[in-house]
Amino acid sequence: MGPLAFVFTTFINCPFSLVVIILDNHEIQSSIHRAKVALQYHLIEENIALRLIKQHADVEEPESSPTSPEEYGIGSTGKYFDEVGYVAGGSKDIDPYVRNRFNQAASDSLPSNRAVPDTRTAMCRLKKYDEDLPQTSVIITFHNEARSTLLRTIVSVLNRSPENLIKEIILVDDFSDNPEDGAALRAIRKVQVIRNSKREGLMRSRVRGADAATAPVLTFLDSHVECNVLWLEPLLQRIKEDPTRVVCPVIDVISMDTFQYIGASADLRGGFDWNLVFKWVYLTHAERSARLSDPTQVIRTPMIAGGLFSMNRTYFNKLGKYDMKMDWVYLTHAERSARLSDPTQVIRTPMIAGGLFSMNRTYFNKLGKYDMKMDVWGGENLEISFRVWQCGGSLEIVPCSRVGHVFRKRHPYTFPGGSGAVFARNTRRAAEVWMDDYKELYYRSQPLAKQVEYGDISERVAIREKLHCKPFRWYLEHVYPELQVPSLGGGSYAIRQGSKCLDTMGHLVDGTVGMYPCHNTGGNQEWRFDNGLIRHHSLCVSLSPDDRVTAVLVACDSLDEAQLWKRRGLLIRHAKLDACLDTDRPALYLERCDSEKLSQQFTF
Ligand SMILES: *[C@@H]1O[C@H](CO)[C@@H](O)[C@H](O)[C@H]1NC(C)=O
Ligand SMILES: *[C@@H]1O[C@H](CO)[C@@H](O)[C@H](O)[C@H]1NC(C)=O
Repeated sequence: MGPLAFVFTTFINCPFSLVVIILDNHEIQSSIHRAKVALQYHLIEENIALRLIKQHADVEEPESSPTSPEEYGIGSTGKYFDEVGYVAGGSKDIDPYVRNRFNQAASDSLPSNRAVPDTRTAMCRLKKYDEDLPQTSVIITFHNEARSTLLRTIVSVLNRSPENLIKEIILVDDFSDNPEDGAALRAIRKVQVIRNSKREGLMRSRVRGADAATAPVLTFLDSHVECNVLWLEPLLQRIKEDPTRVVCPVIDVISMDTFQYIGASADLRGGFDWNLVFKWVYLTHAERSARLSDPTQVIRTPMIAGGLFSMNRTYFNKLGKYDMKMDWVYLTHAERSARLSDPTQVIRTPMIAGGLFSMNRTYFNKLGKYDMKMDVWGGENLEISFRVWQCGGSLEIVPCSRVGHVFRKRHPYTFPGGSGAVFARNTRRAAEVWMDDYKELYYRSQPLAKQVEYGDISERVAIREKLHCKPFRWYLEHVYPELQVPSLGGGSYAIRQGSKCLDTMGHLVDGTVGMYPCHNTGGNQEWRFDNGLIRHHSLCVSLSPDDRVTAVLVACDSLDEAQLWKRRGLLIRHAKLDACLDTDRPALYLERCDSEKLSQQFTF
């Protein structure tokens, strides 16, 4: 959803065969790594189940979904589309879970326009939306999706959206085995079908859909969802007010066993740990109180949203979804009773789950679309989330918009080169482009990822520079302050400004320092910020004793005030003077501090 406007002309330069060879050389490690990543996929889905259970616990939701068809809807295709014949013509396996990792027989038995419970909080029913909301193009990519779930996705969009707001539904068939799965759907109003001539994966497929779209707002959906009542208006309203907002619905849960539609908790937002795997994070009491006074402010919490995913084991077992070996703990009473603010206010989220969101089309293009060199699936939500925030936009969950999603046990796609390798490759691409030196924390958490080639990222780096995106440190401080950042310290590191790094330029005592393109190999770019000293081995950055303005190298002496510096946000301020290091001349010098000035912003 973020706007990105990069034109990608080249595709993968690093063909998979290469990746595979590398992995073969490290066969043991890579199989461990694959196993780990497979576990991570699992956890993504488990996190979702947690939301479901959470909601189940504190709201009296109907236990079962109505399954009878809705009386009438503009999406009813009964009069002109042979739904029964279409669904019957799809692929089936003896074991209904084999093909899709969900109970396809259960899905096939439900009408395409079945009713679902309105899971919104009651206050949402009082909300009013503008008459003149912008139109959207809905983009749905799929690969070997069960026909009944795909059809229900489309019918729910048509049925539950105002006629005038849906410009078109663009289906991108990512080279499914049977071309008829998509082609037959052309008979439905507003539906266009694009078929890839080879497997491209989610990111390139979505960009193909976005490039074909003509409405001012893009809405991306997965191919196994059901939109709930009034799902679209709250999203479009937010985008109409500010085109840099990327907005997501609350993702309800459609049981993969029974296809029961169950409301999820709205008190969650997306986050991650240093393994860079998406997870849901419960809002804290402080956050919820703060939202009362100003729903748009960035909220800092005094503590990490501890215990995050706590759940009642009984509920968990009742759902019978995953074979988990952990004991889950229920959220405390205090936490649960902390639901005091207006539940319709949007939730700013550091990360989106990935599949479902809307954004302004112009903004999507401006921000660089997607990383077209990412393969298949995974890591793209991380990349777009960093990009949107760091480049000036925002990500929101809109609690009054609800879309149900079938969460599956495992990702049913077949991944060339093994799913772990693809996930690690995509994640590395996001980390290398967006995380500055903090990527080391990812590698520390997932050391085997370093063995996966990530290909050429120069186009993505160029986008970051062109859009003057903020450093990752800014993201951590302003968007995700709850994430505990382990010290990068101990060794030396680079002091960066964009693609350049602080460099001794080969000078010694009394020599100046400058900025030079980062080479990431240490050497003249190795620094330590040590008790106020900016140290390169035994040399430190000091004010020149001659002009008191230029920064020069001197022998380190922690008692020499000329050598003492303080970090103020991204600035490096002199400890005794109201002046900051500035790089807009060949040699670093002191200038009046200006936190807006890019040439004074450094990341470590
Ligand atoms: C999308 O963003 C562009 C550029 O900021 C703006 O001109 C346009 O009006 C926006 N469209 C909608 C529907 O908000
Ligand atoms: C979990 O839920 C069950 C069923 O609602 C309840 O009987 C049990 O006390 C709960 N356990 C905890 C630890 O809250």
